[in-house]
Amino acid sequence: MPAIAASAPGKIILFGEHAVVYGQPALAVPVRQVEAKAIIKAQPGGEGIRILAPDIALRSELSALPLEDAVGKAIRLTLDALGVASPSACTLMISSTIPLAAGLGSGAAVSVAIIRALSGFLGHPLPDEQVNALTYEVEKLHHGTPSGIDNTVVTFAQPVYFIKGQPIKTIEIRYPFTLVIGDTGLVSPTSVAVGDVRRAYEAQPELFEHYFALCGRITTNAALSIQNGRINSLGPLMNDNHEVLQKMGVSCPELDQLVAAAREAGASGAKLSGGGRGGNMIALVEPDQAQAVALALEDAGAVRTIITQVGK
Ligand code: PMV
Repeated sequence: MPAIAASAPGKIILFGEHAVVYGQPALAVPVRQVEAKAIIKAQPGGEGIRILAPDIALRSELSALPLEDAVGKAIRLTLDALGVASPSACTLMISSTIPLAAGLGSGAAVSVAIIRALSGFLGHPLPDEQVNALTYEVEKLHHGTPSGIDNTVVTFAQPVYFIKGQPIKTIEIRYPFTLVIGDTGLVSPTSVAVGDVRRAYEAQPELFEHYFALCGRITTNAALSIQNGRINSLGPLMNDNHEVLQKMGVSCPELDQLVAAAREAGASGAKLSGGGRGGNMIALVEPDQAQAVALALEDAGAVRTIITQVGK
């Protein structure tokens, strides 16, 4: 049986994080500079599924993984979906260049790669819709109550205008644009930020409804701007979105510092991206400014920068 390999890109949220959990739209795009990969090959004479994931120091038999382990859950859900009780012996190798817990979709990408590789290995590659649905189930381990945006963008590897519970809408990018992604280096579990927003919302429902609606309007404007090629409008919309996220309590001094540094270095807009309290921020730049903005972010404390073209 030949080895089967599958991969999935990272992702970044452009607009609408947190508000998306409450039914507002969000925009996210794949980031192809980073990816997760899964390779699976038969292990004649072996037994069960052996997992090797050196990036997360995981070396285990499937049977030894607890039920709440994300890798184990992706495998078990795939086996269940295909009705396979005892798969032939194999080794699953997982690797990823996507930073962990930084808002780049590492968990979703690893799950997508595993589900694709394993279902392919078992002779029944699952369609994207099902890969997406199974990955969403695994995301619940990472996020608690995920909106579903991460698994959707990563599975379909397309820019997405996402509203929870609605059919997937990909968006056309008429004119590509350039983003610099800056990583604070602070590991920040999304579930914690999402939980804090939930508590703040419960304490002040009207105020937070107002914030979520503002984010929704910003996102809708941004989607229209992207579709109509009005890229210049996106910078100010990013700044507006960052301000609302600050008010919602999900920014932090390190993110604010990177956002300020990007704007000072010439970015037309910048905001935190994803769960916040750490992880990544994004800045919209002209292509010839990208290096200078990336350097300014590194000077201001970014541990990693990625320059990415959206829509190319
Ligand atoms: O931190 P990330 O990029 O995985 O994204 C979280 C996005 C939230 O809106 C905060 C949560 C969600 O499930 O949509």
